[in-house]
Amino acid sequence: MSHASEFVVVANRLPVDRVTGEDGTASWRRSPGGLVTAIAPVMQRRKGAWIGWSGAPGEELEPFEEDGMSLVAVPLSAEEVELYYEGFSNATLWPLYHDVIATPIYKRRYWDAYVAVNRRFAEAAAGVAAQGAMVWVQDYQLQLVPAMLRQLRPDLRIGFFLHIPFPPVELFHQLPWRRQIIEGLLGADLVGFQRPGAAANFLRLARRITESGRAQGPVVQVGDRQVRAQAFPISVDVGELAELIARPEVRERSEEIRADLGGAKILLGVDRLDYTKGIGQRLEAFGELLEDGELKPGEAVFVQIATPSRERVEQYQLLRDEIEQLVGRINGEHAQIGVPPVHYLHNSYNRDELAALYLAADVMVVTPLRDGMNLVAKEYVACRADLHGSLVLSEFAGAADELRRAFQVNPYDIDGLKQTLLTALRAEPAEQARRMRSMRRRVIEHDVDRWAREFLEALEGH
Ligand code: ADP
Ligand code: G6P
Repeated sequence: MSHASEFVVVANRLPVDRVTGEDGTASWRRSPGGLVTAIAPVMQRRKGAWIGWSGAPGEELEPFEEDGMSLVAVPLSAEEVELYYEGFSNATLWPLYHDVIATPIYKRRYWDAYVAVNRRFAEAAAGVAAQGAMVWVQDYQLQLVPAMLRQLRPDLRIGFFLHIPFPPVELFHQLPWRRQIIEGLLGADLVGFQRPGAAANFLRLARRITESGRAQGPVVQVGDRQVRAQAFPISVDVGELAELIARPEVRERSEEIRADLGGAKILLGVDRLDYTKGIGQRLEAFGELLEDGELKPGEAVFVQIATPSRERVEQYQLLRDEIEQLVGRINGEHAQIGVPPVHYLHNSYNRDELAALYLAADVMVVTPLRDGMNLVAKEYVACRADLHGSLVLSEFAGAADELRRAFQVNPYDIDGLKQTLLTALRAEPAEQARRMRSMRRRVIEHDVDRWAREFLEALEGH
């Protein structure tokens, strides 16, 4: 492979997944999650290469162009998908970094695969990057890549951004390979986090390992290099969303959704089906409001969109069963013919449909138990140029630092959640507009372009 690209993004996933239709033809579809939503528009605007896995085990692909981006696929065998992706990434690191909401599984076989796959990504990046290029490594699946890449290509400028929370020292210390992870990250020149607290957690650990207590400011001394760690809260593509909501077909679709739901107030949840998202807590609260008679069937409906995610990981299978049972119970107890109170859609949707749903929703319910940022909250705000609608937002989402005028809530407190849902549903239009205006100012000024620019300028100036 030639050394060609001045700018390289390295992420576990390519921004598109290979899907096979019923007639057997293969095509590409945008892959799920906040990382891809945020980085794809940045890459479309800057020429560069994106290195990642295609989402299919065992698939080998030549570099290709799709959706305005140059994509370089890194193959993963079925066994690596099981041990590195489903195992170390999503059964060890994901729960550990999200406050051990689920119990992390520590297996040496998972770790060995994580090391081997990180090395493959580092080699792929080393093969694609031009002399002195900027390489931006993404997220928890690839924390060893910065150091591996620096060893292969000391000429590169290497940035790393963690899209999920970085845990407190006391939790991180559970990890049998804690030193290797910190050393891997310290291969970067700049390590970015969603929140200042995460950067502080990392700095504490890194100073302990490098025994460099002396450095001033948010830096760690590693030999003759300085590594900087700082918060860069990620955001959404405000321009793309503004364009979507201006389309007549999106507005018509939004009206159609409202009409299909019989004019009831609409509460909306949009998430990957993940145990960090607090989907059960919000449905529980809604079910109790019906039970208590605070809400009448037909007065309000809950639409929960849940994208299938990590379906072979046991915790996700258990969650799916739990949520589906809960939806069945609430609908069984409170539905009238033709009027189920919960509409549960276990599917992925295109951006038009999501924008139409955001426009239709009276209350957007975002209640993660822990979340690095949560882009859904910011997408809702970016779409509500009409200043209607209320956002209920967990204190434990990174977005809560910026969206101070949301109806903030502790999702573990079901009574508090019930009360907040009612307050949000009953907020006067003037109150909704005041809150929405203030939140929109923040999101519009701090969009995803600004986030990328600030990170890359900090990396460049390092
Ligand atoms: P996470 O990164 O944990 O999935 P975020 O809220 O930060 O959570 O980002 C989720 C992204 O995925 C958002 O851009 C959202 O619009 C998108 N998304 C969520 N659910 C769906 C769905 N059912 N269909 C399509 N896109 C979805
Ligand atoms: C979150 C993570 C991303 C991940 C996405 C979807 O946004 O931060 O790294 O890509 O979820 O998860 P998946 O396992 O499907 O890639």
